[in-house]
Amino acid sequence: MDPLYLTLRTLTSPIAAITTSSGGRRNGLVVNSAQRASLVPTFMRVSMYISKTNLTHDLIWDSGVFGMHLLRADQWDVVRALGVRSGRDGDKFASLALRTGQTGCPLLQDCLVALECRVANTMDAGAATFFLGDVVAAESGTEGDVMTSDRFRKGLPDDLRVQYEANLVRAQEELARIAQTVDRARNWPGPTTRP
Ligand SMILES: Cc1cc2nc3c(=O)[nH]c(=O)nc-3n(C[C@H](O)[C@H](O)[C@H](O)COP(=O)(O)O)c2cc1C
Repeated sequence: MDPLYLTLRTLTSPIAAITTSSGGRRNGLVVNSAQRASLVPTFMRVSMYISKTNLTHDLIWDSGVFGMHLLRADQWDVVRALGVRSGRDGDKFASLALRTGQTGCPLLQDCLVALECRVANTMDAGAATFFLGDVVAAESGTEGDVMTSDRFRKGLPDDLRVQYEANLVRAQEELARIAQTVDRARNWPGPTTRP
């Protein structure tokens, strides 16, 4: 693998599960692009990059709400449910316990920490959209070690690794076509649907 790509790969966040819904359609995915985006403890913000080809992207764009969950290192069930197939192929939440947050967004019951967020702004990033979110509620779950990207790579079960690597190759090929074009005029219009 390209040594520069391997170096850039170290600039990843812990594994986070993202949930959302729009017009009653619920969905979610897994990211390693979750970041704290505010230094001010009394006004928490987070950010993430979501590929434009993912269903979750469009649902967050439309409803303006999302849940961001830090996972424990043993939560392979969540990775399996949300991170290796698209919600276009069926309901991804069937095996996961959910609650509804104050924004109407579905949130995972089992996680280290659940942050409920409203989109504050977005930035076009070519293949992805950068979402900046205000944290409107936060709740701690069962304690444990956080699933860092390093723990993810080392502990990924074999069957999941095969799917994850195949998806990554396919996504990289697909996204390469749109990665270079950044639309500076693409502003987020605000929510257009209810969760
Ligand atoms: C460890 C890991 C990290 C990922 N990071 C991101 C990410 O930062 N942004 C993103 O859009 N997709 C990311 N993905 C891919 C999505 O989770 C995946 O494409 C998902 O199936 C999309 O589902 P959807 O079409 O239902 O939204 C990641 C997947 C894994 C397993």
